[in-house]
Amino acid sequence: ERGLRVSDKGFLNTAVISSSITYIDGDAGVLRYRGYPIEQLAQNSSFLEVAYLLIYGDLPTRKNLETFEHEVMHHTIVHSDAETLFRSFRYNAHPMSILSSAFSAIGSFYEEANPSLQGQNLYTKTDPKSLANMDKQIYRLIGKAITLAAMAYRVRQGRSFVTPPLGMSYTGSFLYQLDRAGEERYKPSPVLERALDVLFILHADHELNASSTTVLQTGSSLVDPYSAVAAGCASLYGPLHGGANEAVIRMLIAIGSPANVPAYIEAVKRREKVLSGFGHRIYKTSDPRSFIIRNIADEVFAVTGKDELLDTAMALHAVAMKDEYFISRKLAPNVDFWSGLIYRAMGFPMDFFPVLFAVPRVVGWLAHWRQMMHQQGGVKIWRPRQLYVGPGKRDYLPIYKRL
Ligand code: SDX
Repeated sequence: ERGLRVSDKGFLNTAVISSSITYIDGDAGVLRYRGYPIEQLAQNSSFLEVAYLLIYGDLPTRKNLETFEHEVMHHTIVHSDAETLFRSFRYNAHPMSILSSAFSAIGSFYEEANPSLQGQNLYTKTDPKSLANMDKQIYRLIGKAITLAAMAYRVRQGRSFVTPPLGMSYTGSFLYQLDRAGEERYKPSPVLERALDVLFILHADHELNASSTTVLQTGSSLVDPYSAVAAGCASLYGPLHGGANEAVIRMLIAIGSPANVPAYIEAVKRREKVLSGFGHRIYKTSDPRSFIIRNIADEVFAVTGKDELLDTAMALHAVAMKDEYFISRKLAPNVDFWSGLIYRAMGFPMDFFPVLFAVPRVVGWLAHWRQMMHQQGGVKIWRPRQLYVGPGKRDYLPIYKRL
């Protein structure tokens, strides 16, 4: 173990790659996708335009965007074999476990995902056939992400699956598939569609977070991208990561009302509770996404009516932001603190919230995966070292000699 040292717990201060995709300044609260400030993208762009930017590195021309949108939206249909898989889940299975299983399963539908082909490293960036194959897998995963998520939702509702419509936007198609689609009650809402599109932009990428690291760790063995995305989905499921938006709502419900906030804050300071939606490994000031999401909340509430948990959330926010315990630890709201309130107001069940994080994050995972597949010198499998601290050599002891 010459020269080895254990990187800080949880990779606290370890860079494993160089990347040109997303830039974060945690002290200044800055987030940029390929150099563009998140505030400008949220204001002016669309989710699929941002997806193109993150994956291919530049804002698309009108022609490129039309082609990308056409390809993605023509890959929203999922093979009917997948329906058998979805129907095999219990009605109350968590939609994130359904979604990660589904991503892995659809990889088995496609020949080029066959491991026997992987060894030829299908992703050389100079070979047009390889580039076309990679693009097709990217279109498929982004397009099918909304359909798989909608299917997970419909399983929970005990409802039939909805054939993805053509001629709608990405979030329009998603809401159509989710929400009593095909029945006369379905009323598209441009405000909710745009709000979800902006939320998808904000959740699309965040440099090397736990789930993106998982996708790269898994993809570095040259497994197919469907399996790598399934692994990323499993990582995002955890309450310390993408599951936090669900944990925030459960926390607000448990607190019950603004009057109970001081007692909850004291329990957090006694380390009996966690303040979900606060704190971040990189941001040591407020997460810039949380400001944008807070504003979206007001726009959505104007359509759906205010969520009664908002008062408790605002009271919690106000107390925590002035309390020395949180200030000294540089704990501030992150992307998950307000987003759950919006999803609840839009009518999503609580355990579906992490799915609303995973769907847009497929784009960030694929941007990092494509960058790794095309890295200089080819893909190196990620195999970190360890410092061995276990027992030295010792001989086997027959069981009758063990006390
Ligand atoms: C996301 O990485 C990303 O970019 C993730 C993400 C993305 O877009 O991909 O931004 C999305 O995952 C946002 C984070 C969502 N998670 C939560 O909201 C869960 C609550 N937050 C914490 O679990 C925590 O803040 C983490 C996991 C987010 C970050 O943990 P770190 O960086 O390991 O920080 P830490 O645990 O070392 O905390 C430092 C101190 C500790 O106190 P001391 O032991 O030093 O006295 O702050 C305390 C912690 O106890 N602390 C909290 C806290 N978060 C940290 N105390 C109370 N409530 C919290 N939420």
